[in-house]
Amino acid sequence: MSPLLAAQIQQFHAALASVTSEEALYELQVAYLGKKGSVTALKGEMGKLPPAERKDFGAAWNRTRDEIEAALERHRDVLKARARDLDLARVVDLSMPPLRPPVGSLHPLTQTRRRLSETFIRLGFDVAVGPHVEGEQFNFDDLNIGKDHPARDMADTFFVEPAAIRGLAPGDVQELVLRTHTSPVQIRTMRTRKPPIRIIAPGTTFRRDDDATHSPMFHQIEGLYIDEGVSLADLKATLMAFTEDFFGQRLAVRFRPSFFPFVEPGAEFDLGCPFCSGRGCNLCKHTGYIEIGGCGMVHPGVLEHCGIDSERYTGWAFGFGIDRMTMMLHQIPHLRLMFEGDTRFLEQFPC
Ligand code: PHE
Repeated sequence: MSPLLAAQIQQFHAALASVTSEEALYELQVAYLGKKGSVTALKGEMGKLPPAERKDFGAAWNRTRDEIEAALERHRDVLKARARDLDLARVVDLSMPPLRPPVGSLHPLTQTRRRLSETFIRLGFDVAVGPHVEGEQFNFDDLNIGKDHPARDMADTFFVEPAAIRGLAPGDVQELVLRTHTSPVQIRTMRTRKPPIRIIAPGTTFRRDDDATHSPMFHQIEGLYIDEGVSLADLKATLMAFTEDFFGQRLAVRFRPSFFPFVEPGAEFDLGCPFCSGRGCNLCKHTGYIEIGGCGMVHPGVLEHCGIDSERYTGWAFGFGIDRMTMMLHQIPHLRLMFEGDTRFLEQFPC
């Protein structure tokens, strides 16, 4: 046997003795028999020998390779057997309670949205929906939000590249936006249904806003009631009935005059603080009231845009943020917590 091959075998066995993992075993195999392995390299030596010695060297090289391969194989079996023994030796305590698979729950926002819907369904409302990508006409024009209204400003609205979805609505060249509120569902509903109309429309809305209390994606719920003889008193009564069902107590409802182009008169509405019953606490900043959203009597022009006779019918609408409502209910300090998907947060809201 060539001294070169003999040295390789000796070295190999020495290295093999300290191999304790399958990965290390594989590395050793590569180091000796891989493409650039040391034994593989010796094969090249054969060409340098005088022709008479080549045959013997070739045979010795083959034996060397076979011996190394066989040793690797044996060692692999030994390692496997050792791993199996370790596994079997592990003590299994059958009296331990089993590991419980984690159980998911509904997102706190979903819980609030469902509870809100249930409440309004009990009060006789249907749930209506609309698309997130909306035409400017329904999101703005038909709601009396004129072309020069600041709400259309790039600073508030996400505009959607019209070409990007033109294929979805052939021939429709309207500017498209991510709806900035759920109010376009009012338009969609009034255009397709005849009074009496009594709907709520919970859904996702988008504005270019981002801080502790604003997120570019947020959620609103819209309410709309159209019939003959509907008045602001009906709105107030409905909101009071809502508080009773939703918060389990009848809360004060306060209107503060405000302006929204699609209602007249318009108001912002506050509810008596459900946490201190109006006495004043941190959550209501010691005012006794919590700001909830906007509302008012549907503007006659809006009714007419939708083909509803504004001489015969009147109605009211309201809209408020579901995220804010959820934060308030659970005293969540930062809006972003709700959209990060961190299970440490979500686990706190089992349902
Ligand atoms: N759409 C208004 C907003 O997003 C809320 C609103 C709805 C106001 C219905 C009045 C009537 O701020």
